Amino acid sequence: MATIRLGDTAPDFTAQTTQGTLQFHEWLGASWGVLFSHPADFTPVCTTELGTVANYHPEFTKRNAKVIALSVDGIDSHHEWIKDINETQNTTVDFPIIADESKEIALLYDMMHPNASEKATVRSVFVIGPDKKVKLTLTYPASTGRNFDELLRVIDSLQLTANYAVATPANWKDGENVVITPAVPDDEIATRFPKGYDRVKPYLRMTPQPNK
Ligand code: BEZ
Repeated sequence: MATIRLGDTAPDFTAQTTQGTLQFHEWLGASWGVLFSHPADFTPVCTTELGTVANYHPEFTKRNAKVIALSVDGIDSHHEWIKDINETQNTTVDFPIIADESKEIALLYDMMHPNASEKATVRSVFVIGPDKKVKLTLTYPASTGRNFDELLRVIDSLQLTANYAVATPANWKDGENVVITPAVPDDEIATRFPKGYDRVKPYLRMTPQPNK
């Protein structure tokens, strides 16, 4: 499979998971989706990552986003490991973890980077919109746990910019001022952005976040 690029349709698949067999697109339904791989069960960084996602699950749900993890370990291993995650991370893992022993899905999503590891996936993240298009990809090495606050921040940006002609500036957080996209002419700003705007430069026009 070629690299998956932004705007591509997320490949569909059937998966064995800790919550039974599922068809990815059907499981996503009308929700946003976060598919993320982790290198291996019973490893320290992965344990903290899965625990963090479990603790953040209400935040993903609030954003109408379903989360699903993947590793190339088996289903019995996943179930045993979940007990450790729940115990050590003070949580309850209540999202599915895919058991991709054949590596079929990992290969489909280009999660195997053989020059990094022959056996395990890298730490990939795919954010998928309700239209099943890929909105964000991230690739981290096994040695670096991901920042799930950043992932929530990006989902906030994706959902905002899907609905308004705005983009979010560097280090933006939900509730802060946003950039009016260059496609909006100055003479339409007053009606489209009634909260007002600051014309710092002709191409840099800031406005309060329109949905707050
Ligand atoms: C970890 O999750 O701790 C880990 C997994 C694979 C390689 C290195 C670290």
